[in-house]
Amino acid sequence: MIIAIDGPAGAGKSTIAKLLAQKLGFLYIDTGAMYRALALKAIESGIDIKDAVSVVKMAAASDVDLVNNPGGGALEVFLDGRDVSQEIRQPRVSRVVSDVAKIKEVRQILVKLQRRLGSQKDSVLDGRDIGTIVFPGADKKFYIDAQFDERVMRRYKELTGLGQAVTLEEVKNDLCNRDTIDSTREHSPLKRADDAIYIDTTKMTIDEEVETLLQWIKR
Ligand code: DC
Repeated sequence: MIIAIDGPAGAGKSTIAKLLAQKLGFLYIDTGAMYRALALKAIESGIDIKDAVSVVKMAAASDVDLVNNPGGGALEVFLDGRDVSQEIRQPRVSRVVSDVAKIKEVRQILVKLQRRLGSQKDSVLDGRDIGTIVFPGADKKFYIDAQFDERVMRRYKELTGLGQAVTLEEVKNDLCNRDTIDSTREHSPLKRADDAIYIDTTKMTIDEEVETLLQWIKR
């Protein structure tokens, strides 16, 4: 069974997807983490993000892997065998990841990997194009949304909770910029699949969100 969860940055997708996967005993596949791992590698290798040819060459020679810890521990993200779970959340990565994700060939490489991972086991995937491109035949599709100010506040709390020194203004600019790039890019833009269930989580608690999705899944 494949559960697809799409939506804009900061809408709470990854929190819900992870909890849902735990409750159902499914694999959790955070596809945004994969784009982030490649963005991190480009930064560390000194590759100009605007130089698509070099970014694609780098992506093709990279090994990105996700490891679900049994018992619901945090998802671990590996880049060429190194645990980069923390580093991929840094603002320097968030700032450029949308530019990496808009490159067609980078998407092709990661979509292939996402399909392979998702085909091995019942999975919950979260991202931008899961219900439209990666698994258009997913058993259940959700589009998770929340009002912009609420998304900014959630992302701000998440990042400051991780000990990062960011301002509300920086988070606002980052989300605004990523919303624009993610939804207007040429290849696989963020778009609600026609058959996706739309859920506005602005006024919902995390428990309510997970319960709502579970109800839909049981139907
Ligand atoms: O969900 P996130 O914020 O970690 O995602 C990071 C970026 O990766 C996001 O700005 C857009 C991109 N992304 C994508 O293009 N397609 C996906 N399936 C997942 C993420």
